[in-house]
Amino acid sequence: MLGIGVILPGPADFAAWRAEARKLLAAAIPPEQVEWRVAGEARGLFAEAPPPDVAGAVRVPRRFVDLAQVAIRHRDPARFALLYRALWRIAQGDAGLLETATDPDVIRLEAMAKSVRRDAHKMHAFLRFREVATEDGLRHVAWFEPEHHILEAETRFFLDRFGAMRWSILTPQASAHWDGTTLRMGPGGARRDAPPEDAGDDLWRAYYAAIFNPARLKPAAMRAEMPVKYWRNMPEAREIPRLMAEAPRRAAEMVARGATAPAARRQRNTLAVPEVAPEMDGDDLDALRRALAARNDLPPWAAQATQLVFGEGPLGAALLFVGEQPGDEEDLAGRPFVGPAGRLFDRALAEVGIDRTGTYVTNAVKHFKFTPTGRRRLHQGPDAGDIAYYRPFLRKEVGLVAPRLVVSLGATALRALTGKAMAVTKVRGVVTRTEDGLPLLPTVHPSYLLRLPDRNAQEREWARFVADLKAARMATA
Ligand code: URA
Repeated sequence: MLGIGVILPGPADFAAWRAEARKLLAAAIPPEQVEWRVAGEARGLFAEAPPPDVAGAVRVPRRFVDLAQVAIRHRDPARFALLYRALWRIAQGDAGLLETATDPDVIRLEAMAKSVRRDAHKMHAFLRFREVATEDGLRHVAWFEPEHHILEAETRFFLDRFGAMRWSILTPQASAHWDGTTLRMGPGGARRDAPPEDAGDDLWRAYYAAIFNPARLKPAAMRAEMPVKYWRNMPEAREIPRLMAEAPRRAAEMVARGATAPAARRQRNTLAVPEVAPEMDGDDLDALRRALAARNDLPPWAAQATQLVFGEGPLGAALLFVGEQPGDEEDLAGRPFVGPAGRLFDRALAEVGIDRTGTYVTNAVKHFKFTPTGRRRLHQGPDAGDIAYYRPFLRKEVGLVAPRLVVSLGATALRALTGKAMAVTKVRGVVTRTEDGLPLLPTVHPSYLLRLPDRNAQEREWARFVADLKAARMATA
């Protein structure tokens, strides 16, 4: 008897595979009689008959569908046959097949799905867009070499994150192109079709160097997490050998230095709490700052701060950023976002081409709240009462600057601007309104990026933060 030859239109086309598998089952064709291949691939040695055209429906456990949809993206040419064999066995009465963890077919399918998921995870973390100027404006183009046929499925991830940009992802097997409204899949390309370098590469390197902790270096774990094969398409990878070579010396220096000594305290500045508070009636930013500094009903902890840290930037700035509260360095300098979170913020602004001096940067809470512990001052988050205390000042400040777009950095700023406690992760990147009706784009606080424990998460979240800032830039361009 001739074998049955089934030709699928694409290498990971689950719908087509399912339609063919249903027909084969309805015609009771056992798995060993079927040859599967993708259109354009060479056929096997044996003569093949076309598949039967019999209508059929089969009920399979949801778990099989979920597993099959992922496993079919594996590059192993045997995946279609393996899936059909599992389906055949289930249809023959082995309804609990997938629960049999020791079954060789199940082991293989689970391993395939795991490998596909891992590949997708690496794509999210390690794909790097570079800017290309085209006739229609900027396009972001990335070259990536996935192990499996994951591109089409993973476009969902990039549409969610970078829906506001125009982008292309090129891989050896296929490409995806987003023009802001339509997604188009195309043929594969070559590495030379993607731009080799852009200005953002230096920032990736700087960011990587900033988050690299020499004292935590575990080379084997690092290579497992960021396999060397991805390095050639990642600008920051060029830094890795140098950082690894320097790590022992830097770690030894860190131990020798011990805990960082805090900078010498300045005298609390002369903007002391007066006996009688003037009305908060400033009609310019300086008057507002003085009015706040002169309050005699500040929250009690504010008395231990060095000084009031007010916002800075030009009146009429198109973009206004609101953070949480000054940290240790801001308290000493009297300026917002000049410490570690500020440096990361500056880097992200530079990456998207926003000139900080043209923006207005401020905080929801204007004094550094901390717990003194020995020689360090431990940041203490503001509570609802603190946020409520400074809110009228923030609203007035934002109203005076009158920006086209307000960007809240983190949950405190979002709460101060909307009057509502919300999870930033649920609303980030979606423009809403401040309580006073100004457009508001919520995103995460830069220090959130500094706290993430693993490098994948850091890189993924960095890319999302940069994308949010890019959206803010585009909205006010
Ligand atoms: N974090 C903030 O929210 N604001 C600053 O100014 C510094 C750190």
